[in-house]
Amino acid sequence: MADTQAIDSVLNESRVFAPPEDFSRRAHIRSMQDYQRLWDEAEKDPQKYWGDRAREELFWKEPFQTVLEWKPPHARWFIEGRTNLAYNCLDRHLPKLQDKPAILFEGEPGDRRSVTYGELSRQVNQLANGLKSLGVKKGDRVGIYLPMVPEAAVAMLACARVGAVHSVVFGGFSSEALQERMKDMGAKVLLTADGGWRKGAVVPLMKNVEAALPNAPSIEKVVVLTRTGDGKLPEGPKYMAWDTLVRGQPDTCEPEWVESEHPLFILYTSGSTGKPKGVLHTTAGYALNASLTTRWVFDLREDDVYWCTADVGWVTGHTYVVYGPLMNGVTTVLYEGAPTQPGPDRFWDIIERYKATILYTAPTAIRAFMRLGDGPVKQHDLSSLRLLGSVGEPINPEAWMWYRDVIGGGRCPVVDTWWQTETGSIMISPLPGATPTKPGSATFPLPGIHAEILDRDGNRVPKGQGGLLFVTKPWPSMLRTVYGDPERYVSTYFSELPGMYFTGDGARTDADGYIWLMGRVDDVVNVAGHRLGTAEVESALVAHAKVSEAAVVGRPDDLKGTALVAFVTLKQGNAPSDALKKELATHVGKEIGAIARPDEIRFAEGLPKTRSGKIMRRLLRDVAAGKKSTQDTTTLEDLNVLAALGQNDE
Ligand code: WT7
Repeated sequence: MADTQAIDSVLNESRVFAPPEDFSRRAHIRSMQDYQRLWDEAEKDPQKYWGDRAREELFWKEPFQTVLEWKPPHARWFIEGRTNLAYNCLDRHLPKLQDKPAILFEGEPGDRRSVTYGELSRQVNQLANGLKSLGVKKGDRVGIYLPMVPEAAVAMLACARVGAVHSVVFGGFSSEALQERMKDMGAKVLLTADGGWRKGAVVPLMKNVEAALPNAPSIEKVVVLTRTGDGKLPEGPKYMAWDTLVRGQPDTCEPEWVESEHPLFILYTSGSTGKPKGVLHTTAGYALNASLTTRWVFDLREDDVYWCTADVGWVTGHTYVVYGPLMNGVTTVLYEGAPTQPGPDRFWDIIERYKATILYTAPTAIRAFMRLGDGPVKQHDLSSLRLLGSVGEPINPEAWMWYRDVIGGGRCPVVDTWWQTETGSIMISPLPGATPTKPGSATFPLPGIHAEILDRDGNRVPKGQGGLLFVTKPWPSMLRTVYGDPERYVSTYFSELPGMYFTGDGARTDADGYIWLMGRVDDVVNVAGHRLGTAEVESALVAHAKVSEAAVVGRPDDLKGTALVAFVTLKQGNAPSDALKKELATHVGKEIGAIARPDEIRFAEGLPKTRSGKIMRRLLRDVAAGKKSTQDTTTLEDLNVLAALGQNDE
């Protein structure tokens, strides 16, 4: 469960930062009284609260009559309504924002493009018509495997326009991971590129696609964008150049007016068991919370230049790079590459040049920058910034303070935002004009969000005590199911306490009621802000011919938050060696992606197990962290196994 060291340090945290007065004065939500009023309104009459918000926030082709139908654990929102998310992001802004930059793009090699709302809309419509010409219809699944280029946003929006369900696969995932996802969703078309730029090198997307294709039979067409320019279009009737598809397509396209509950996207994410799950989000509820939370949490103003550094391959990229900002008509920055390419000041250079006003990034990046010292930051004028956001893992108070003081010059509020792929949008976060912040606390749930810390029996835990984080009532952007596996939806999220959404996170409140997230309580780990299931990495390891058994656990890491440690036993006839460690790490990279490569591999004679044969993971976590285990080991199958693990480093 939660790491005790982290608990100690946050328990001692007593600093409080009130929102700057001039910030509050202009904010959408200006005081805790404002917040409380919204909260009470939502509490008193959720149907009215969400219904009003949905009418204000979205364009409805057909109005809804029913706000919510809740048959636990299944929710349907805004039932009779029809809308289209691409229309909400583009068309409705066009009369006013035709020439305003929607996307400021910067490629890693330094190429730049500004795409206005007008241009973005034309490109989306052309691709939407192109998709239709390939036979893509409402409800068909379309895979997206692209670098961080404007076409990634174009691809998502074009799918939304024609009612196709998109599933973005992070460009860092391997060909095996891509293939698995394409097969699971039964994708008809895959939108990809020859490659992308990362750390000065080409990410070979096309090569991965070619390897994946033979095992992804549902794919009828692969549409290839030229980005890096190396490699020509592969032979064969399935491949088609992006340019060829869109050339000559009309730049208008009647949106498909879909029902509120029409699926919008599937995003695969790791769970504590088995293969990654296809988290399914639907249209209207997702759109509502995406729009509302982006405006409230980042306190958007018309002239903001907003930069969320996440990749569109993750949910943060969906909600806070593409949909949220575009629904609000602001300018969003898109950067393709690595944070320190070509130098340690790349981020700060981008902020200075684009005069970015809002930065939303991950604690792991903040800690990496912190290590580089203040020097690279001080080379740049960051005075355009007015707000900073953090997401993806708990942020330690030290990193929070550095972010606030060095990046934010002490004047920008910091919002630590807690949410998940499954929640679709931010759930717990300060409102920057209202909430006094404490370094390391995500503070309070947003209005209408019933995030509660309970024990296993469903009782609220007293202030100051730890428990499990649940969301006890439905919210519009909640996931609707696990694609293709409705039972897994129920068993994963609604079985701990029936009818209540279990987040998988531990949390506690302090004496003032502030929420402090304590990390995952299941076998999911957050490595450098990337979510991984230890079971996934284990199954990749045991797929290797020389491996007999594997157990993977997280170990606290200053930079990555959590590092991956794999305990491996080998099949007879194989000897441990450094070369084999490398081979296994490479193998995991190939099976899943570089982000899943263990940081440390330890060979063992055997793994500690209970008499019933369960691997004692908690004990392994202690071993990995170099702690003397306090756990009762009397149920160990073989105490020698434990002793050997403690010393064995080879
Ligand atoms: C898990 C969800 C949606 C954000 C990107 C990650 C952890 C996320 C915070 C935060 C503490 C956080 C949780 C959560 N997490 N944000 N502000 N403080 N922990 O989405 O890949 O679905 O991962 O990330 O453990 O369960 P994800």
